[in-house]
Amino acid sequence: MLCVNNLSLGYSGHIIIEELSFELASGGLIFVTGANGSGKSTLLRGILGLTKILLGEIKINKGIKIAYVPQAEAERTEYNFPASIREIVLMGRQRPFKLFYNSRDVQAASYAMTRFEINNLDAQLGQLSGGQMRRVLLARAFCAEPDLLLLDEPCAGLDASGREIFYDYLNDLRLKYNTAVLMVTHDDNLNLKPDKIINL
Ligand SMILES: Nc1ncnc2c1ncn2[C@@H]1O[C@H](COP(=O)(O)OP(=O)(O)OP(=O)(O)O)[C@@H](O)[C@H]1O
Ligand SMILES: [Mg+2]
Repeated sequence: MLCVNNLSLGYSGHIIIEELSFELASGGLIFVTGANGSGKSTLLRGILGLTKILLGEIKINKGIKIAYVPQAEAERTEYNFPASIREIVLMGRQRPFKLFYNSRDVQAASYAMTRFEINNLDAQLGQLSGGQMRRVLLARAFCAEPDLLLLDEPCAGLDASGREIFYDYLNDLRLKYNTAVLMVTHDDNLNLKPDKIINL
C-alpha cells in the first residue's frame, strides 16, 4: 500500500526527517509520535506530495483512494468559503475526473455526518466551533471509504463523546474497507493497537 524508503524531507535545504523507512500494508495501523516540530506533519505532507522529497522515495499503490485530515490549526484558511457543511463533507466523495455525485455519495456523506453527530448542515465553516470543525473534516475523510487514511492529531479538540465516535468509526472502516491508517498522535490512552510506532 505505502512504502517509504530512506526518506529525507525538509525545507530549503534544512533537513527535518532523515533516512526514514517503513511500510504500511492494507488494514495496517501506524502511529507517528514525537515532540512539537519533529516533523510529523511534514511526513504526512511528504506522503501527499505537498513537500519536496530531498532524498529517498515514497511508493504508493496506483489508483488507491487516499483521505487526509490535516492538523487543527492548519485548516482555518478561509472562513468565508462559499459552501455548506453538507457540501464540504460531500467533497470527500470527489474523485479525479468525476463530474457529479450520485445517490451512493449522498448516502455515504449523510451517514458520516449522522455518525459524527453533525447537525448544522446548512452552516458555513466559519460558524463552527473547533470541535465541530474537526468532526466535519473527519466525516469528509471517513465518507470517502479510503484505502489509505492520513490523520494528523485527529482527536485534537474532540470531546469524550467525539473521541469515542472517532475510535468506533475508525475500527469499522478498517474492518469493512481494510483501510490502512497512518496517524499522528500524542494520546497514549487509545483503544487502538498499532502495528508500529514511528517516533520522530
Ligand atoms: N512550510 C515550512 N517552511 C519551513 N519550515 C517549515 C515549514 N513547515 C514546517 N516547518 C518546520 O519544520 C519542522 C517540522 O514541522 P512539523 O509541522 O512537521 O512538526 P510537527 O512534528 O508536526 O509538530 P507539532 O507537534 O507541533 O504539530 C519545524 O521546525 C517547522 O518549523
Ligand atoms: Mg504537526
